[in-house]
Amino acid sequence: MTSGTTARVLLAPTPARWFEVARERWRELLVDHASCEKKAASTALSLIFSYAEDFELTDRLSRLAREELKHFEQVQKMMRELAVPFMRLTPSRYADGLRRALRTGEPGRLLDLLLCGALIEARSCERFEGLAPGLDAPLADFYASLAISEARHEGLYLRLAEQRAAGRDWRSRLRALGEIEAELATTKDRQFRFHSGEPQ
Ligand SMILES: [Fe+2]
Ligand SMILES: [Fe+2]
Repeated sequence: MTSGTTARVLLAPTPARWFEVARERWRELLVDHASCEKKAASTALSLIFSYAEDFELTDRLSRLAREELKHFEQVQKMMRELAVPFMRLTPSRYADGLRRALRTGEPGRLLDLLLCGALIEARSCERFEGLAPGLDAPLADFYASLAISEARHEGLYLRLAEQRAAGRDWRSRLRALGEIEAELATTKDRQFRFHSGEPQ
């Protein structure tokens, strides 16, 4: 079900229970999804500011940020069409858990940011792919199309990471971060969010 790269990057699949809850609580999921798209754009923008001397990286991430904002607009359009109101949600443990794993010194920090970007995109792709078959028409089609974009974004972050690793061992770092990601995305979680673990 998952694409080739996604299967390589993610170290554990999303629990079946998460998909069950997601199909019941699709409205809440959509609200959190809108916020994930904003965060994806904002992460790309902040990388553009931090690594402004790297023109290839800033070009590609500028395009990515625009695409993520387009996704955000599409999610809001979907919310309007399906009469889902905005609600304020507390952030999930996922982003914070990954942020705490980032190294602070360069060049490790850039590599970690890019590898985490790849992991987050891979998890999004996996969840969109798994969600689409169990939902009704407009959402099912929307999520299926997003799964394709997220797989592409994962590939972009991985390529950037590999290039900037410049011969350093990025695969073992990806595995280490992947273990943390897998734990956050699959173990019992008090919250239900797009990137949460198994809902209690
Ligand atoms: Fe997106
Ligand atoms: Fe993305």
